[in-house]
Amino acid sequence: MAKNESLHKAREAKQDEYYTQISDIERELVHYEDHFRDKIVFCNCDDPAYSNFWRYFQLKFYQLGLKKLVSTHYDPHAPSYKMEIVRKEKGEQIGIPDYAKTPLKGNGDFRSEECIEILKEADVVVTNPPFSLFREYLAQLMEYEKKFVIIANLNTVTYKEVFPLLKNNRIWLGYKSGAQSFAIPDSVERNNTYYINGQKYAKFGNICWFTNLDIPKRHEELVLVKQYCGHEEDYPKYDNYDAIEVGKLSDIPCDYGGVMGVPITFIDRYNPEQFDILGLDDHRVPWRGRGPDLNGKAIYRRLIIRRKK
Ligand SMILES: C[S@@+](CC[C@H](N)C(=O)[O-])C[C@H]1O[C@@H](n2cnc3c(N)ncnc32)[C@H](O)[C@@H]1O
Repeated sequence: MAKNESLHKAREAKQDEYYTQISDIERELVHYEDHFRDKIVFCNCDDPAYSNFWRYFQLKFYQLGLKKLVSTHYDPHAPSYKMEIVRKEKGEQIGIPDYAKTPLKGNGDFRSEECIEILKEADVVVTNPPFSLFREYLAQLMEYEKKFVIIANLNTVTYKEVFPLLKNNRIWLGYKSGAQSFAIPDSVERNNTYYINGQKYAKFGNICWFTNLDIPKRHEELVLVKQYCGHEEDYPKYDNYDAIEVGKLSDIPCDYGGVMGVPITFIDRYNPEQFDILGLDDHRVPWRGRGPDLNGKAIYRRLIIRRKK
């Protein structure tokens, strides 16, 4: 590997070491509890000795009625291990269950054969995967048709490997999106860091959860309070195609049946019973359509939607 490339990879690997806080895990997963009953939950790309995903599911193992919990640890430089809790059919089903720690043959890479075997057996995958391998990670979950709840950067919504899955209602956003802080190693340098009790944290402005489990939020309608009729001047048409510009979600009119361009944040409120997503238009990226122009000026980027009812 060329020196530059290996330096780049080392930097990327460091940038993947973000550990999710238990409060954020609890806040999200409380909405999915019914989906875990009698299921095998797999936390890959994890570090069960420190991971709050492992901690959350171990502490709630009986309460959630899990059948099995597996977590694989990734070590870029050495063979690694997995941790596992299997429900006993008889005996006490209270308290904190014991776990078994077993060596893996390889380093716990989610793409390795042995990790894929664990994945195949799992019902639901829950984790915060490495941001630098996100495309590949999501593609693998889709290939093996797994249910999942995973953390992502909101920017990935516009990736060409991700957007079609959102548009076609194969994945959607979970509950919490926006700013979120992660514990990071001391050695990782970045903006927006702070310390609490000697632990370094980094704040990110644009984190979300992706899932393909059915959650009530997905069926909540966006309440539309604005009217198009009589206020046409507030909704100019783009120069280059037949759609109106709606600059804020709260301005989506309740009486316009045509095509609208809305900010990308709409994706967090998208209910497929209420709207269709027709596309994503972005001036700077060719696959994302033409990019809307308004009065001769390029609009940064818009989701193109239409009301269903
Ligand atoms: C964003 S961190 C999240 C860690 C943990 N799931 C949590 O939130 O507490 C991503 C983790 O993926 C691991 N990782 C990086 N590349 C990986 C790979 N190819 N296979 C499996 N895990 C990997 C990193 O070491 C890191 O611990």
